[in-house]
Amino acid sequence: MFPFSMSRFMASLLARSRSCPVIAAFLLWALGQDLPGAVTITPANGDVWPPEVAQSEDGTALDRDNILRFSLAGVQLKFSALESASGGLTIPASGMGGDWIVKLPSREDTGVPENEFPMMHLASLLGLDVPDIGLIDIDNISGLPEGMQRLGKTAFKIRRFDRQANGERVHMEDFAQVFSVYSDDKYKRASMRNIASVIASETNDRDIREFIRRLVFNTLIGNGDMHLKNWSLIYPDKRNAALAPAYDFVSTIAYIHGDSFALKYSRKREFADLDFDELSHLAAKATLPEKMVIDTAREMTAEFLSHWAREKKHLPMLEGVRTAIDELLPTLPLVTAVS
Ligand SMILES: Nc1ncnc2c1ncn2[C@@H]1O[C@H](COP(=O)(O)OP(=O)(O)O)[C@@H](O)[C@H]1O
Ligand SMILES: [Mg+2]
Repeated sequence: MFPFSMSRFMASLLARSRSCPVIAAFLLWALGQDLPGAVTITPANGDVWPPEVAQSEDGTALDRDNILRFSLAGVQLKFSALESASGGLTIPASGMGGDWIVKLPSREDTGVPENEFPMMHLASLLGLDVPDIGLIDIDNISGLPEGMQRLGKTAFKIRRFDRQANGERVHMEDFAQVFSVYSDDKYKRASMRNIASVIASETNDRDIREFIRRLVFNTLIGNGDMHLKNWSLIYPDKRNAALAPAYDFVSTIAYIHGDSFALKYSRKREFADLDFDELSHLAAKATLPEKMVIDTAREMTAEFLSHWAREKKHLPMLEGVRTAIDELLPTLPLVTAVS
């Protein structure tokens, strides 16, 4: 839902890649060295820039370092970063490496970092599997390409769960990859029930409960952006799938009044459609234990409401986010069922 932002040279390369296979192959190579998970793409014949991409259309030379910084998917402008000795973050000059992801403010929507941080923090207070997160002053990030300061003062940072302390990569795949759905179709083609089926067959009860807890949490905060690319599987032992930690929790109703869930739960997708009947349907179709699903949803809703009542005054949150969630909650059947 947030418009794509990227540099002019990157946009020009992407446009040219459609008619030029050499440029398309080059993009795979350039971005393929620091992809999410453990996949890398390396050139068969050396580390050479093809002449077609050495210059942009207006004849200026392209900046190799800059292009290597755009390997992370998603719509908000983001970089992989290292913790610097001064306590801030550094974007490596090569664009590669780094165990944090920094998400810069959106050009279009106000205060996205100041929305994502409190939502993720609340999720972690509720015991969801949330990596280390924080807000960082953009002035404390060195190595950013020029002009980024114009986007705002504060960025959101999250520790990468696909990189280990020793630098080893951990493989992950998002659910668009799992279902072989192109990025453009990430709001279609599958439902939460389909994701639940995979989690039921590939993981364990702990992950099933975590999935239901996240589903309920994102409904209660009015997050309409939990599409296929915002859920991932991770392979910590290189073999067995587990539900990857949480990321990209944003209360989108603060921007889009009347937003709905990104995908159908089982049959329906309005936030107010998530009730025990819809959860039972999802459980039956995805072969999840019904009682566990319903009990988990009920407990999560009750825990959310008590945390929200306590924390909403303290969380560093824009007033619009607080008000939007406060207006949404009484309209939700899960909330009336436990109140
Ligand atoms: N903490 C993390 N560790 C590893 N990969 C991550 C992490 N957070 C996000 N990602 C990856 O980066 C992509 C973009 O991040 P996301 O937070 O979804 O940004 P956007 O708001 O732009 O969609 C995700 O789809 C996921 O593949
Ligand atoms: Mg995302």
